[in-house]
Amino acid sequence: MSFEFSDKIKKLPPYIFFEIEKILEKKRREGVEVISLSIGDPDLPPPKFVLEALVEEAAKPENHGYSNSRGEPEFREAIAKWMKERFNVDVDPEIEITALIGSKEGISHLARAFLNPGDKVIVPDPGYPAYLNGGVILNDAKPVFMPLSKDRSFLPDVDFIAEANAKIMFLNYPNNPTGAVIEKHQRIFRNNL
Ligand SMILES: Cc1ncc(COP(=O)(O)O)c(C=O)c1O
Repeated sequence: MSFEFSDKIKKLPPYIFFEIEKILEKKRREGVEVISLSIGDPDLPPPKFVLEALVEEAAKPENHGYSNSRGEPEFREAIAKWMKERFNVDVDPEIEITALIGSKEGISHLARAFLNPGDKVIVPDPGYPAYLNGGVILNDAKPVFMPLSKDRSFLPDVDFIAEANAKIMFLNYPNNPTGAVIEKHQRIFRNNL
């Protein structure tokens, strides 16, 4: 039996990591020893105290039900505290923080919550594939590709952002896949580079 994918799903380009996995599997079957440099899996285990806390919490019956749909209040408060200490940014744990299943899931749901068909979205190029796929294509929005070029040290172009007139801009920093870093004193405006 075969199932027909929806027109929306058919619009998605091949998922790069799936394509790489297929190549890896083929090479390994051929007996080639491959070191995968594709996906950024951690190569160190999580700290011992984190694993111990997980095991301890998993054994408690009060943790076996659903959690608060926005994330437990203590969890959201801990994030707000971290944002303040780490970045000196005030975020309201009541309305500005929500728990996600993962950030990839969050990217597509955030876009779904804010985009209407035809809305413009700035997508860094090169950029993390979920921005274009889950963020733009699945919402019938319009991508505006922001080139991250070597001569600008792969930094976003603020003038481009102003000209694009977009509703959403995706940006992660240091950027995946360029890994660009900026000095604290450096500014990203075109004239300051
Ligand atoms: C920029 C970026 N966002 C999101 C993700 C996915 O994160 P998660 O595992 O939380 O879904 C990745 C994974 O590589 C990433 O590079």
